[in-house]
Parts: sequence; structure tokens; C-alpha cells
Amino acid sequence: MKKKDRVLIFDTTLRDGEQTPGASLTVNEKLKIALQLEKLGVDIIEAGFPRTSAGDLEAVKTVSRKLKKPVICGLARAIKQDIDAAHEALKSAKKPRVHVFLATSKIHMQHKLKKAKDEILKASIDAVKYARKKFDDVEFSPEDASRTELDFLAEVVERVIKAGAKTVNIPDTVGYAYPEEFGRTIEYLMNNVPNINKAVISVHCHNDLGLGVSNSLEAVRRGARQIECTINGLGERAGNASLEEVIMAMKMRKDVFRGLTTGIVTPELYRTSKLVSKLTGIKVQPNKAIIGENAFSHESGIHQDGVLKKRVTYEIIRPQDVGFKGSTLVLGKLSGRHAFSERLKKLGYSLSAREVDQAFIRFKDLADKKAKLFDEDLATIVEDELSTIPEEYKLLNFQVTCGHSVKPIANVELRKGKETISASAAGDGPIDACFKTIDKALGCKGKLLDYKVNAVTGGKDALGEASVRVGFGKDMINGRASSTDVIEASVLAYVNAVNRLSLRRKKNTNKSRRAKRK
Ligand code: KIV
Ligand code: ZN
Repeated sequence: MKKKDRVLIFDTTLRDGEQTPGASLTVNEKLKIALQLEKLGVDIIEAGFPRTSAGDLEAVKTVSRKLKKPVICGLARAIKQDIDAAHEALKSAKKPRVHVFLATSKIHMQHKLKKAKDEILKASIDAVKYARKKFDDVEFSPEDASRTELDFLAEVVERVIKAGAKTVNIPDTVGYAYPEEFGRTIEYLMNNVPNINKAVISVHCHNDLGLGVSNSLEAVRRGARQIECTINGLGERAGNASLEEVIMAMKMRKDVFRGLTTGIVTPELYRTSKLVSKLTGIKVQPNKAIIGENAFSHESGIHQDGVLKKRVTYEIIRPQDVGFKGSTLVLGKLSGRHAFSERLKKLGYSLSAREVDQAFIRFKDLADKKAKLFDEDLATIVEDELSTIPEEYKLLNFQVTCGHSVKPIANVELRKGKETISASAAGDGPIDACFKTIDKALGCKGKLLDYKVNAVTGGKDALGEASVRVGFGKDMINGRASSTDVIEASVLAYVNAVNRLSLRRKKNTNKSRRAKRK
């Protein structure tokens, strides 16, 4: 395969994806996603924006230490301090890359940066030259490129390549571009930038008009060889181009993308999507292309009949090609530790003996309440049990009374170290009463911003997965938990949010102490 036939996949789920309102990930959650992205075969992982927060710095450091195959990238504005922070964060990466950006559109230059074209050009060149002193692999993005005057864009691209950028990314920052027009921009750069062959041309398309995937694909047809995208299309505002959609479009339409390949292992797509959805707390819409729950279900009789006679009548993708297996009954009450541990291996988990033991206890407990256990149940158990959020507050007990014309009242007992904290409060419903009681016990005031309960599989005894998003002052925190009792799942999810809040505040305190000492 020639180098020019390979389209590189740059995943920015951990950076732009984390900018999705409400999606915040801990360092360990980012690591879990990064390890799965490595299995999926992405070429580059943008692991964070190290200068923006201590959490991002630590996440990029951790991902750099643990991953071997993909390039690990950190984002930086075109200023020395950002590039230095990225350098510090990427120290242990086997293949580090810094991604420097500076806006080049008139709107951004005049209103946001208050700088003239020549100043922007100079700052871009200087930043790339500075970055090249610290990194062999430098990517540059003229932010808001799709609204930048073409001749100026071409000049910036030429000069940053000359300064040492090995990848130049053309972002449609506000998702305004139209495929034909965006494609023409890429073609113009390919034909008018004299040194264009010295760099990989990349695209980064937002989805404000729902055109992120189409714009990315058209750009590839016109010469781009790197696509920046996210799992489940997460990202700022309406999100970024969805990785699973660009990949499957290229795979299914080989007639259009003649000879072009990526390194993506498509049977890992579904698992990756599930993991990201679970850890960010952001559900995938059921009719989402490629990995939505409805993508392979045929409701109408005519379609069902057609698929049974010949699958290709109504199904263009084989479910197994994206790793979609449907719900398979796997284990029950009488299954032993060995069968449990073998099934987890098949699901792709490599756990230590202690971790298997820990998850097995929860499995047995669940098997007592639920007759049939499916792969999804096992995945939920493992993710919950191996959550790395320290349980500063542990739920010991709760009770709630409610009914028709009865004011719901809850009692909750929590443990913190050796201390037991309990409280009782009334609420508008049983969940509200429980959440208010936890607030009262802990002396805080949480504002419930989002609350969802989903059945992990079907059936009356299904495992319910609750997720909450709570505002505690300026902090917005997600929490999640599962149980066959949805009230218990909700209470545990709220306690999980409180524990995440406590972890975040401790980290911030340590950071400001360190800053004071400096
Ligand atoms: O959307 C955008 O322009 C970005 C840049 C930082 C590449 O995310
Ligand atoms: Zn972006």
C-alpha cells in the first residue's frame, strides 16, 4: 500500500469530545477510552489540552505512559507556555505530537484576537518553529479555516509547512462549510501550495449543520489524508464528525474511495461506542447511523421478510462488521467463576484475579435477582465494580416511603471513614426525596441538571443504569450506577457524583497548594 492511499484517523474524543456539554472524564476513564482506541486501531489520539487544566495535563501524561502504538497528541495555543505544557505532558510518549492552533479568519482575527494578518502569520510561524525545537512531529491548525480567505489560508499553510509543520489541519470550526465548497478549498490548497507534498493535509469538521461527516469525506476525495473525528460524534456544540460514520462510509463505498484504506478494526466500533457512552454519561440516539440500537433492527414486516430471504435486500452492513452482536444470553445463577472469567475474556476484558473475584461477587448477587444475564449485564458489572473513583462516601442504607397521596420521605445512611452520617428529608417524588436527603446529610446543595434511567437489557428484572448530572456551585459533575432496583441505582449514581466532586476538589486544592509553593 502506498503512503498516499492511507487515510490517518486522528481521534479527538478525549479533547474535543470532552468539550461536549456535560461530558467530563476522570484521568482513569480517559485512560480506559485511550486503551480501547488503541485496540480500535486509531493512528493518533488527541488526549487533551495540557495547559488548560491539571486534569488534562495528568490525563495526557498517563495516556502517554501507558500506550505504545498510536501517536499521542496534546493541543496548544500558539504560545510558548502552551507548547511547554504539552511538552511536559508528552515526555513519556513513544510517539509524541503537539497540535498548535491559531485562528486565521477575518471574524476571529478582528473580534477575538484583535490582530492583523501579518501578526497572525508571524505568530503561526514562530509557534511552529518553537514547537519544532521540542517536537519532531508538529501539527498546525488555522482555526476557522473554512471561513478564512483562500489566498491567506494558502499562504499560512505554505509558511507553517516551511517552518516545520508535518501535518496541517483545516478545521471547519463552526460547522458552516458545505461539502462541495469544503472539497474545493482542499483541492485549492493541494494545487496552489507549492510545498503541500511535505505535509499531510488533515480535516476537522464540526457538525452544526449536520454535515461534519460529508465534509470530511469530500475532503478525502480531494486529497486530505487525515480525518479528525470522535466516537459517537461527540464534541463542542453539535459535535464533530463521527469516527464510526466516516470509517464505515469509506469501507462500504470502496467504489467512491477507490484504493483508500484506514487502520481501523471495525468490529471494535460498537464496543468503543458503548464504552464512551457509558463513561461520558451521554447516550447514543437509537437511530444513530452505524452504532445506534436501531441500526440493525427491522420493524416492518416487509423488511423482516426481505432480510430473512436475503440480508442485502435491506441491510448494507453486516452487524458483526461493526461488532454488534445483539443480546446474547450468556450466564445464569449456576454459572461458576471459570465460565464468568472466560466470558469476560471473550468480551475483551483482561482483568487480574483479584478484579475477577471482585466482579464475580457482584455477578452472583445480580444472578440471584435476575434470571438471565446477558453480555451487556456483565459489561455493566465490570465497569461499575472496577470504577476507580475512591468511595469517600459509601451508601450503607436507604429507605423511602411513597405512594398515592403520600408525601415521599427518605432516610439515607452514609459512611465516611469510620463515621456514619444519616439524614431524613421529604421530596416531590422518591428520587427527589433521596437526593435531598443526601444533600442534607452532606451539607451541600446539588442542582439536578439531568437524570436518566435506562434498562441495560430487556425484561422486568433488567438491570437499570442510572446517570445523573449535578451542579454543585460552579462544578458540574456526572455520576452513574446500576442496580435491578432503579431507586437504588439512582441513589448510588448521586453518591457516585458526590465522590467525583470530592475527588475533583481535592485535586484542585493540591494544585493551588503546589502553585503557591512555586
Ligand atoms: O474546531 C476547531 O477548530 C478545533 C481546533 C483546535 C482544531 O478544535
Ligand atoms: Zn474542534
